[in-house]
Amino acid sequence: MKTLDDFDVAGKRVLVRVDLNSPVENGVIQLSARIREHAKTLKELSDKKAKVVVLAHQGRKGEEEYLESLEQHAKLLSGQIGKEVKYINYLFGSDVTKAIEELKEGEILLLKNTRSWDGETESLTAKQHAKGSFVEVLKPYFDLFVQDALSVCHRSHASVVGFGYVLPSCAGRVLEAELKALEKVSEKIERPFVLILGGSKPADYIALINKYLEEDKVDAILSCGLFGQVCLIAKGIDLGKQNAFLEGKGAMDVIFDVKKVIDKITAPVDLAVKKDDKRVELKLDKFPNDYEVFDIGSKTIRQYCKILSDAKTIFLKGTPGYYLWPEFSKGTLKILKKIGKAKAFSLVGGGDSSAAVEMFEIKGINHVSLSGGALLRYLAGKRLPGLEVLESV
Ligand code: 3PG
Ligand code: MG
Repeated sequence: MKTLDDFDVAGKRVLVRVDLNSPVENGVIQLSARIREHAKTLKELSDKKAKVVVLAHQGRKGEEEYLESLEQHAKLLSGQIGKEVKYINYLFGSDVTKAIEELKEGEILLLKNTRSWDGETESLTAKQHAKGSFVEVLKPYFDLFVQDALSVCHRSHASVVGFGYVLPSCAGRVLEAELKALEKVSEKIERPFVLILGGSKPADYIALINKYLEEDKVDAILSCGLFGQVCLIAKGIDLGKQNAFLEGKGAMDVIFDVKKVIDKITAPVDLAVKKDDKRVELKLDKFPNDYEVFDIGSKTIRQYCKILSDAKTIFLKGTPGYYLWPEFSKGTLKILKKIGKAKAFSLVGGGDSSAAVEMFEIKGINHVSLSGGALLRYLAGKRLPGLEVLESV
């Protein structure tokens, strides 16, 4: 795959797909690691005197975090780059092409949320998207397409696959760094390799676990978060009231698949439940009960930290517990701290996990990925249309 080192961008018009999708609080976009990291790629292109046009999305149409305008993102990017990022509230059409034509060397222009146009998310192939109006209209204006976000590469959306199909294209710095880090937890794993899976979406993990086990590449799989609870149920433990919660979350849909590999997975030996709004830790023989579970217990934390001490490679996806609530942040905090201090190569992925790394100011983790779904799919060996299109040119 080509990178920015393979192109001389001075004076060239460069179209860059980044992922600025960030948390929204009361309509206000929060400065995120994604905005900070992609700003560096844009700054590099600007410093090299490219004329830079940026494509990005925010949320999904019809969902709470969707914003049609990316004006706030442009302001946040400007703050990071130390230079104005222009914004135009159109995606294509004469206003956009005029603004592109007027761009001077080093200038950066962000376009409207790509998902404001319904054609963006239509389920089409790269070839089909390349024939759509968006790509057809804009492609004559560009010399190069740069894909900077692994986090969108699992989507066969127009802005992700269409331009790469018809323009010279390459990986931006963020994508380059992500792929380099991922190599160390896929093709070039130093053993022992410890995988820690937590969070609230166990369904995402099955393909990944099966792949690592089939290829005999993993030495320990430590389960926590809702996934850890599903693993306990797979081992025949009745969690009582928590069972219904897991079912409501759809976490139990994978129980059949989890049971098939449960003897290869380490499950928690104690859990922290909420009792009168306080953290109370209970051993497994205290279940079933009527309490809700919010974290792994101290004995589990100690046991997992010991296993992490011997690791040469660590990959964590999903937090061990509900870290936003101080009573229940212990598991997440201790495990992340341990990973930061470990001598191993460490990679942490997923939105909540990376937010926790930032919130607790954890130092020493080798790579904090900006991706969630795309990362898991990549590691499970599934195809990522956004990467395929870069490899094909
Ligand atoms: C994300 O936040 O997961 C990426 O920006 C991709 O967004 P999506 O999951 O809505 O496609
Ligand atoms: Mg997503």
